[in-house]
Amino acid sequence: MNATVNAVEMRGISKSFNGVTVLTDVDFDVRSGEVHALAGGNGAGKSTLMKIMQGVYQPNSGEILVEGEVVKITSIQAAKTAGIGMVFQEFSLVPSLTVAQNIFLNAESLNRAGLINDSEARRRAREIFADMEVEVDPRAEVARLGTAYWQLTEIAKALAQNARVLIMDEPTASLAKHETEALFALIGRLKARGISIIYISHRMDEIYRIADRITVLRDGRKLFTEPLTEITPEQIIEGIVGKKIEGQLSYRVREAAESDTEPLLEVRGLSAGTRVKEVSFTLHAGEIIGLAGLMGSGRTELARALFGIDRIDSGEVLIRGKKARLSSPQRAINAGLALIPEDRRDQGLVLDHSVRDNLLLPLLGQIGNGPFLSAEKGKLLADSLIKQFAVKVDNPGRAVSLLSGGNQQKVVLAKWLGTNPDVLILDEPTAGVDIGTKSEILDRVRALADEGKGVIIISSEYPELLAISDRVLVVRDGSVIRDIPRNEIVDEEALQLVVQGV
Ligand SMILES: Nc1ncnc2c1ncn2[C@@H]1O[C@H](COP(=O)(O)OP(=O)(O)OP(=O)(O)O)[C@@H](O)[C@H]1O
Ligand SMILES: [Mg+2]
Repeated sequence: MNATVNAVEMRGISKSFNGVTVLTDVDFDVRSGEVHALAGGNGAGKSTLMKIMQGVYQPNSGEILVEGEVVKITSIQAAKTAGIGMVFQEFSLVPSLTVAQNIFLNAESLNRAGLINDSEARRRAREIFADMEVEVDPRAEVARLGTAYWQLTEIAKALAQNARVLIMDEPTASLAKHETEALFALIGRLKARGISIIYISHRMDEIYRIADRITVLRDGRKLFTEPLTEITPEQIIEGIVGKKIEGQLSYRVREAAESDTEPLLEVRGLSAGTRVKEVSFTLHAGEIIGLAGLMGSGRTELARALFGIDRIDSGEVLIRGKKARLSSPQRAINAGLALIPEDRRDQGLVLDHSVRDNLLLPLLGQIGNGPFLSAEKGKLLADSLIKQFAVKVDNPGRAVSLLSGGNQQKVVLAKWLGTNPDVLILDEPTAGVDIGTKSEILDRVRALADEGKGVIIISSEYPELLAISDRVLVVRDGSVIRDIPRNEIVDEEALQLVVQGV
């Protein structure tokens, strides 16, 4: 192995879509066995650069070298052949197939008829997982597994195709703490085998833990590439945001909600499906409740039941003391609830509709008179939301699917925060949102609570949960096992211990 040859090198990459320049003359290189972090604000061009490396898009100019040789990466297949694999931000597995079948889908282990030889696939999958030192059952149907296993399956799939370079686009966005730890340990082992990892993340702590070097993009240009030993987090953040930003997320003591008044929301013995069991709690006007729990603890299911997506089997929900029938999202909305879902692509947006239409969707009743929406009013309102939430879009009439991941998330947030719900449920609201916008979003949530709304927030990021919550409910195995006032939680570590049941 030649230490001076890069595993992959991109030179002078430029890319535009419909005349809009997204990347300008970007140089980027990854060494063998290196973890290289790629950072930048929402819409800076990270995913696009990696999609070019991965053969999804062709650059307008520039070239790619693999192990020192210029390679034309004209398709995803060509990238795979060149040893470049990707773990997608949105997963690309077939849910109805097993883990083993997914790993070897379209691979050479197919027999003549193009069918996967199941026992052979299982045997090889088992070998790969053993090499990765993780435990995944190759026979399990993917649909039944949690996100962390999807990811492991994607990684195994790339390794089965002999990937030497693995691109991970925000891999921890939907992982619980212990799953993140497991992923980091795995990254360490892959690295030791000489595999290079490109790691896209908005989380500074992760970048410092696992990456060797970092490249920061801003507005489609490379700002710098530096070893992490030679640069401070403040310098990186300043590079990403383009200015100095003040302090970290911190809790602001808010006026305590009056607990003797009638609760805004009261949940009594709520059970739904197999994941929500006998949940009871109250939420007062002006209060922000954080739901802490491991991935799969039932937090998302609780939110879905409250919002009328999943059927409530028993128990009741009272809104301002009156029993509410939450049998559909429309009923929940009418009762004054709003849910900002975790899975923005499935539930939060109509992807082929414009940014503007998506923003205005839940607001239709508020603009204009009757069923007719005043186009002019709609435009102004959408423009103001775009500005408030710093959504990066040159033309609000364009399809929302063309926005970067983080900007799509901002549209979801803006859309729902623009309605006027009494109770707002937020599921991982800042996942994928860049550092420059995170604290603004939390400020907006606080402002809503200050106006007398009730807020329920699910977040796997403890600093965020502790910064925003007045009370924390700890959910385990579908039940609320603790209800703790914020001032009784000393720090992140203390919360983590409770969540893990230590
Ligand atoms: N297929 C496309 N057509 C038009 N514009 C696109 C397309 N794909 C990406 N863009 C635009 O390119 C810019 C960069 O997007 P990209 O997804 O690379 O950002 P990113 O750095 O990954 O951001 P995030 O942190 O939000 O994921 C955005 O302004 C986006 O709207
Ligand atoms: Mg992206």
